[in-house]
Amino acid sequence: MPACGAAAMAVAAGMLVGEPSLAADDIPRGASLYAEHCASCHGERLEGAPHWRTRGADGLYPAPPHDETGHTWHHGDRLLFDYTKLGGEGALAALGVPDFESGMPGFGHVLGDEEIRAVLAFIKSTWPEAIRRHQAQVTGQEAEAGSGEQAPP
Ligand code: HEC
Repeated sequence: MPACGAAAMAVAAGMLVGEPSLAADDIPRGASLYAEHCASCHGERLEGAPHWRTRGADGLYPAPPHDETGHTWHHGDRLLFDYTKLGGEGALAALGVPDFESGMPGFGHVLGDEEIRAVLAFIKSTWPEAIRRHQAQVTGQEAEAGSGEQAPP
């Protein structure tokens, strides 16, 4: 998972920038935004594209699941926010990893910050409790390693 690996290294190096916190409200709104903007690639039931672990003919990885079989939950809130707002390439560039090719488009021109938070809150709301706890821990570590912004409550 090159995107994952590179991002994890950059996070560990404390180079993360971006939004500090996600509100856990407005999940129904997030669900409909997900259906409208994300389901075409990530699947209506968050199941991801078929064969998402294998690069396609274009050399890019297909969209991974957002359910517990994927690796969205391996990342903290800020990275998820940046990935959605800036796209894969933009998020990695912001982390100091240039020229990363990603099939994940940026939604910064389509969705407002609150809408991005709502979509991510919806995705998180589908995870089992243990996975949500793990992801919250990663978010805490990310905040410590990051730009010194406050961790989400
Ligand atoms: C055009 C297809 C497409 C659409 C639409 C799309 N994505 Fe993606 N997304 C991808 C691909 C392909 C990847 C994997 C490539 C990568 O990691 O760079 C990805 C990766 C991600 C990741 C990183 C996951 C991880 O485990 O590393 C997040 C978060 C994400 N998408 C969120 C969203 C959200 C939220 C939406 C809707 C607002 C959305 N995506 C819409 C194609 C898409």
